[in-house]
Amino acid sequence: MFNSNEDTNYTYDPEEKNLDELYKLLENMFEINYSKIKDYLKNKIETSNFKNFADTEINYSRRIGWCIIARIIKPKLIIETGVDKGMGSVILSEALIKNEQEGFKGKYLGTDINPEAGYLFDDLYRKNGKIIYGDSIESLKKN
Ligand SMILES: C[S@@+](CC[C@H](N)C(=O)[O-])C[C@H]1O[C@@H](n2cnc3c(N)ncnc32)[C@H](O)[C@@H]1O
Repeated sequence: MFNSNEDTNYTYDPEEKNLDELYKLLENMFEINYSKIKDYLKNKIETSNFKNFADTEINYSRRIGWCIIARIIKPKLIIETGVDKGMGSVILSEALIKNEQEGFKGKYLGTDINPEAGYLFDDLYRKNGKIIYGDSIESLKKN
């Protein structure tokens, strides 16, 4: 709250116990070995990729779960309704980049009603995705 630029959607670091519960949940949901789930986080994204963000350390917070799920199911399309600064957009797009390196191509589509939203989602990610502006339901009807 006091040390981060992400002061509305938060970038807290889950404690070991929280992570343990998350991994166990995902293990049950996807019938994947616990250690394999942890492996998906070994190559977490580089803080340097958050070029427009002044925090020195980026904590994924709940987005850790999103990232792991994207790595497990290797989706062809991810839709995130409401991107705000674009932290989820970057994390999900990084998961898609890693999936593509393993031969599974996917696209990212983000929406937000705020025309200022998504500024973290820069050129590095636009190759395989985009953010569309306006009401999510209206935008998704058109795309
Ligand atoms: C909780 S924030 C999203 C946080 C983001 N997913 C992240 O990982 O940091 C919710 C966002 O939804 C957007 N929003 C609210 N109502 C909307 C609507 N009807 N259509 C599209 N976006 C909307 C807001 O502008 C805001 O940026």
